[in-house]
Amino acid sequence: MNQQRKILVTGGAGFIGSHTITALVSEGFTPIIADDFRNADESVPARIEKIIGYMPEFIKIDVCDKEALTHLFEQHAFEGIIHFAAYKAVGESVAFPLKYYRNNLLGLINTLELAVQFKVRNFVFSSSCTVYGEPGEIKEVTEDLPKGLAASPYGNTKIIGEELLRDVHQSTSDLHIACLRYFNPIGAHPSGMIGEFPIGKPNNLLPMVTGAAVGKYKQLTVFGDDYPTADGTCVRDYIHVMDLAAAHVKALAFLQSGTSSFETINIGTGEGTTVLKVIQVFEAISGEKLNWKFGPKRPGDVAEIFANADKANHLLNWYPKYSLEDSVHHAWNWEKKLQHD
Ligand code: UFG
Repeated sequence: MNQQRKILVTGGAGFIGSHTITALVSEGFTPIIADDFRNADESVPARIEKIIGYMPEFIKIDVCDKEALTHLFEQHAFEGIIHFAAYKAVGESVAFPLKYYRNNLLGLINTLELAVQFKVRNFVFSSSCTVYGEPGEIKEVTEDLPKGLAASPYGNTKIIGEELLRDVHQSTSDLHIACLRYFNPIGAHPSGMIGEFPIGKPNNLLPMVTGAAVGKYKQLTVFGDDYPTADGTCVRDYIHVMDLAAAHVKALAFLQSGTSSFETINIGTGEGTTVLKVIQVFEAISGEKLNWKFGPKRPGDVAEIFANADKANHLLNWYPKYSLEDSVHHAWNWEKKLQHD
């Protein structure tokens, strides 16, 4: 059974999860996916099958359902867990904080309790650069910076999640844990088979850009024009989702090596890019003229943040392979392909 190298992937039908499944399979792991599809597209399993050549095991459960999750642990001996399952819309979390605290924390607690009970050794947690809040003078953030004040209940669930994991690790050092602090994942699988499926109008920049270009949305609004940045628009660290997926596989390998057993690690490119630059790259790659306008600042947006990725480079031997141009190109391919599906 162990030869199958089973990894439980909660929330594995989502944007980052689905790409990580393909990366796990390429590296010889067997993902077992727990997802109730409330925030994922039902076509994802068949799409993944086309990429990896077989249908992986998808179990339609809510990780907040402890009984169903227990049943899954009874059936499989997991070598590791990648815990993606969580809500992620910042604005929605402000409107419905309890929905976010209940879902994100209960799902994490259930998964962790079972990890400890069934003696699973390795646990990778989806965290976010949102834990830094508004960075001070230094926009290139390192992992040792004190966590900021999260601008949203969503952000708080990531801060609390990391702290909860640290406490559990202190009491049970048998469980090796990596909290990956994602910057801004964009792009799609180079095959064009999987990508982002925003439900409703997207909050994130890239699906809004490509969606506006194909006419799904009338116009892109750029939030704010007078930030203290090169062109007045916010700076973010955009990372190709396949590079992010690869980081999860590297994190598992690192945890398995037993070198260290609790780490928080930034996963970003180390490059900051403004919103206007993203638009410019999109127009150059697609040959489309984007319909956009400036609008007011979005509450809670930080002016500028990008990763110091030295720790991921050295500890995980992880380096991004894709450029911003590749990411935009793949996101655009995906959007055009969706139009014809
Ligand atoms: N933006 C626009 N117009 C849009 C959408 C976004 O101008 O229609 C701008 C935003 O103002 C921001 C940039 O594009 O400057 C990136 O915005 P995203 O919403 O794509 O990403 P964020 O950096 O706001 O959010 C990301 C993750 C969140 C996480 C946050 C932490 O998506 O999950 O980083 O900083 F909480």
